[in-house]
Amino acid sequence: MNISIVGAGYVGLVTGVSLAEIGHNVVCIDTNKEKIEMLKIFKSPIYEPELEELISKNVKEGRLSFTHSYEEGFNNSNVIFIAVGTPSKENGKADLSAIENVASHISNFIKSNVIVVIKSTVPVGTNEYIKELLDKTNNSRFTIDIVSNPEFLREGSAINDIFNGDRIIIGAENNKASRVVEELYKPFNIPIFTTSIRSAEMIKYASNAFLATKISFINEISNLCEKLGANIDDVAIGMGKDKRIGNSFLNAGIGYGGSCFPKDTSALVQIAGNVDHNFMLLKSVIEVNKKQQMSLIEKAKKRFTSLKDLKIALLGLSFKPNTDDIRDAASIVISEELLNLGATVTAYDPVATKQAKKILNKNIYFTDSIEDAIKKANCVFILTEWEEIKKFDLSKLTELMIEPIVFDGRNCFTINQVSAHIIEYHSMGKESVI
Ligand code: UGA
Repeated sequence: MNISIVGAGYVGLVTGVSLAEIGHNVVCIDTNKEKIEMLKIFKSPIYEPELEELISKNVKEGRLSFTHSYEEGFNNSNVIFIAVGTPSKENGKADLSAIENVASHISNFIKSNVIVVIKSTVPVGTNEYIKELLDKTNNSRFTIDIVSNPEFLREGSAINDIFNGDRIIIGAENNKASRVVEELYKPFNIPIFTTSIRSAEMIKYASNAFLATKISFINEISNLCEKLGANIDDVAIGMGKDKRIGNSFLNAGIGYGGSCFPKDTSALVQIAGNVDHNFMLLKSVIEVNKKQQMSLIEKAKKRFTSLKDLKIALLGLSFKPNTDDIRDAASIVISEELLNLGATVTAYDPVATKQAKKILNKNIYFTDSIEDAIKKANCVFILTEWEEIKKFDLSKLTELMIEPIVFDGRNCFTINQVSAHIIEYHSMGKESVI
């Protein structure tokens, strides 16, 4: 099949590369020329394991190409995927301007009937609204069908997720269009669930909101564990053994971040509000997450009374490991608050430093190694559970820091591991080692 994908971000690029890998002819379109030039020389604009190899393989084998021109990109397509961003506006609403803009170009350049597949996360009803926009500009020259096909891949394991996903959701009002998209996905051999467009749109928000709820829930239990002398690691294992609960997404920590959960939870609260529904549970999930992001600072304040003039090393800046993405990462609010409180902040991340320098406060000292970040520090905050941090030789903390005090926001170490060293260790939902 000839497929165009608009938006060469996480979702668009990974989808495009994977559809090429299973044999389709794919053109990825992005209006950002710099991005397209990078991709043409097989450089991925985002850090994602396996992605660059697959880009270069599929371009060389003639199934994948890149362009910044809609005209060139839509020239030959039967199916157009829209995978542009839907960031949050100030009021939490999803900003649909990028999708509207793409839709405005489609009928100008298509040369046959097409199916437009919306992959971007959009409020319930948006696919229908975009279909109206398309019909307005189309003048009935060609038939344009619309299909909602939300994406569930995770950053950092996107390629693996797309080839081994749990389900593919296809929302359509037209069976013919639905069958074409089902056919296109068949080689992945992943269960396909077809439903209405509105239900498909809702499945995406409901899934992300539920996962965010699971995280805020386990974080509240973790806060209780600290007060009541239980151990969150064991509590999560014990809970997860119940198949109805499941053992994933029960890692307590400093909350969720990234470009999806914060944005999608706020958007769903808004969507509910628009139909006079007060989504109290989800509002609490968001509040708990905000509080949780500050929990290491609260622990440090209790330990030191004042953080003024302390040197604090942040280890890990991305919102989770295996990505250079720091959008809505806890590191942003934590570093800002530490500077406000008068601390000196050093920071190290194995991959995200370049991105962090663009967004984080200019008064942070970025280092090229964990050792440099922790040298003569009064305490360490672990913000992301990178393998390099989990494998760090804890005896170096005693050697290099003024006092080897660790506040671990991601439970990278067990109490047993830590007890073998002369360090003070505060983590999430567990007793402190002093
Ligand atoms: C999330 C969903 O997991 C994907 O299914 C979805 O497709 C994607 O959003 C999206 O909407 O595009 P992602 O944001 O890449 O994917 O990251 P996750 O792995 O879900 O992690 C999100 C945040 O939750 C991270 O900050 C992570 O540290 C935190 N988290 C995750 C926890 O604090 N505890 C956990 O047990 C799991």
